Amino acid sequence: MTRTVNIGLVGAGTVGGGVLKALRRNGALMASRLGVRLHIAQVAVRSPKKKRDFKVAKGVLTTNWKSVINDPKIDLVVELIGGTTIAKDVVLTALKAGKSVVTANKALLAFHGEKLFAAAEKSGANLYYEASVAGGVPIIKVIREALVGNRVTHLYGILNGTCNFILTKMKEGLDFSAAVKLAQQQGYAESDPSLDVDGHDAAHKVGILASLAHGFWVKPKEIYTEGISHITPLDLEFAGSLGYAIKLLGIVKKSKKGPLQVSMYPALIPRDHVLANVSDVYNGVLVRGDVVGDTLYYGQGAGRDATAGAVLSDIGDAVLDLKHGSTDRLKAFTPHESNGEVRPIGETTACYYMRLSVLDRPGVLAKVSAILAKNKIGISSVMQPEGHEGGSVPLILMLHYAKNAAMAKALKAIVKLSSVKTKPVLIRVENFG
Ligand code: HSE
Repeated sequence: MTRTVNIGLVGAGTVGGGVLKALRRNGALMASRLGVRLHIAQVAVRSPKKKRDFKVAKGVLTTNWKSVINDPKIDLVVELIGGTTIAKDVVLTALKAGKSVVTANKALLAFHGEKLFAAAEKSGANLYYEASVAGGVPIIKVIREALVGNRVTHLYGILNGTCNFILTKMKEGLDFSAAVKLAQQQGYAESDPSLDVDGHDAAHKVGILASLAHGFWVKPKEIYTEGISHITPLDLEFAGSLGYAIKLLGIVKKSKKGPLQVSMYPALIPRDHVLANVSDVYNGVLVRGDVVGDTLYYGQGAGRDATAGAVLSDIGDAVLDLKHGSTDRLKAFTPHESNGEVRPIGETTACYYMRLSVLDRPGVLAKVSAILAKNKIGISSVMQPEGHEGGSVPLILMLHYAKNAAMAKALKAIVKLSSVKTKPVLIRVENFG
């Protein structure tokens, strides 16, 4: 007789509703592929009377998440409420009870991953999290399984659908706040969109990928993070005329010796690079393995259905664990590197785009370049676009490789020049070397 797995869903908002609808559509197909029937036995929600666009059987909705986890019939818990407080209790309680969990909660994993995976290990449960990074792109499964025979030397990721959507729309002429509003209407943005535009959501995701690829848990405070709110249409235009696109880019770089770079900041990337063409809400991840070389993954990075698709993938794995009576085949995270360390941003190097707003008078460029020279930073090109008149004009400098600490020191001195009128815009350049 075909076994039935009873699933308890905690949270039925945008993603949870998407999972329920997708299971209604493809549950039978999944059952025939997995050889196990999937049954949504309980769904915990905050407001059971709220109007929803999906149906569940009578008696399935509850307001008590504890009753879902404690129900002995529930085999598997799917946490989709988000946040790091109640969600943490939900996931820990389920894992301690020996029940495997599927979650889409990147913030929860970023801050508490180490503790949660340890709890899973202790009770013999598993914790799956495909939907926490890059929406529908199966990047967790790829790093964990397909690239098991590779050391990941480089990983570059466009990992926040909202920021990518905003930058794309700004390039098309929309202003920043109109683009944010549109992303919210489409259901891409976090309930607090500053998590997106300040880079934190994407930093949580690059931290999860770095941890998985390198075998030690990278904490959010170790990840140098910048958002996109200082990027203006002017920068998109100037970058374009220099042959670059601007993307919020996560970077994980491993040099032969020493700590790992894990960062999330906007970067100019060559317009003909494949990641430069990842637009709108799409995410793209380039993973370079020491055996396989460059591999690329692309798909919708946010939104109900894309994320629901990733949750279904994890449900599939968790259901197979239950079918075979073991979580040992596929540990969702294995801490295999006990000496892992993250390199402080000041010790990493980059090339830079610097946009200054300066008084249009002789000697300004000489003063700026003297400061750069003093900090051993070379200039590769200078652009002062025509058609900007008035008190101050834009001055764009493309700078050679320099340590971030040296650049920060130079910037401090440049800001103090009386001919520099507003806060300089500094964006790193990534050439994927
Ligand atoms: N706000 C997130 C994004 C949702 O835009 O990428 C998906 O994690």
